[in-house]
Amino acid sequence: METPLGAKKLKIFSGSVNQALAKRISAYIGKPLDGIDITRFPDGEKFVQIRESIRGCDVFVIQSTCRSPDEALMELFIMIDAMRRASAERITAVIPYFGYARQDRKDKPRVPITASLVAKLIEAAGANRVLCLDLHAAQIQGYFDIPVDHLHASPVFIKYLKGLNLPNPIVVSPDTGGVKTANWYSKQLGTGIGFVAKERRSDSEVEALNFVGDVQGKDVIMIDDMTSTCGTLVAAANILKEHGATSIRAAVSHAMLTQAGLERLAASPISELIATDSVPMATGISGYPVTILSVGELIGDAILRIHNDESVNSLFEV
Ligand code: R5P
Repeated sequence: METPLGAKKLKIFSGSVNQALAKRISAYIGKPLDGIDITRFPDGEKFVQIRESIRGCDVFVIQSTCRSPDEALMELFIMIDAMRRASAERITAVIPYFGYARQDRKDKPRVPITASLVAKLIEAAGANRVLCLDLHAAQIQGYFDIPVDHLHASPVFIKYLKGLNLPNPIVVSPDTGGVKTANWYSKQLGTGIGFVAKERRSDSEVEALNFVGDVQGKDVIMIDDMTSTCGTLVAAANILKEHGATSIRAAVSHAMLTQAGLERLAASPISELIATDSVPMATGISGYPVTILSVGELIGDAILRIHNDESVNSLFEV
């Protein structure tokens, strides 16, 4: 009879992108991160070596694919390859932020679908399952032919947002793509809902074309999966202010903030940006305080459940 995976040894490794989150996950699980050396050859190529035997183990490898996404991905592939060749029983790629996800369809001629390409490469490297958080589009799960557990940061956000006790809250999606998620948040918070119709002029310029809803005298909570240049959030905030919003906050799962983005926020009507720690804050940027909520416990809980072959259903709410 085969040994159940829960009886196999649990091993948790972290890539170099988000070690702070990996440590929070391991602290929640109550097990230190396992040892892996990640170095570079003089010509720039990466080298990975796992410090002890993982033969027959249930292995989780944590890597957000951001900041330098190409490097982060290559490092993830190399780690998975090393784990597969070291005879791990099962390898789960834990990807708190799954990059290259915005190119998820062919919406112009002669463009790639990078979300699909990356999914194929993760599988080709040897991952047996994927655990990720707030994908840009839930359908990206379908680019994988291995099991994908798709968590949502919503329990973490909802707890924080309820604690703010805003007098007159309303949930707004800053673009039409986020309406379904915003609708779920509005139900959880017992508020109304609105949305902004936007048009992207360039990689960093966004125009808010219209707003549907009523924010007059209301405390707006904008919900989005990610922000980078903050063009989407700020364009939406400006139109919401014009429509009479009293206060405006934004909650985004993944904050790939740039200096220009922080400066944009500082000059905007957005009083608070709330994000998770799925993406590490870039070093050397400042000018706008960001409230960071940890998803360490959420991901740690999911890892334990997957390891013990328990349902992760209750973590999937959205
Ligand atoms: C777009 O569909 C996403 O949900 C975000 O709204 C967008 O990626 C944010 O990017 P930026 O902050 O650069 O406007």
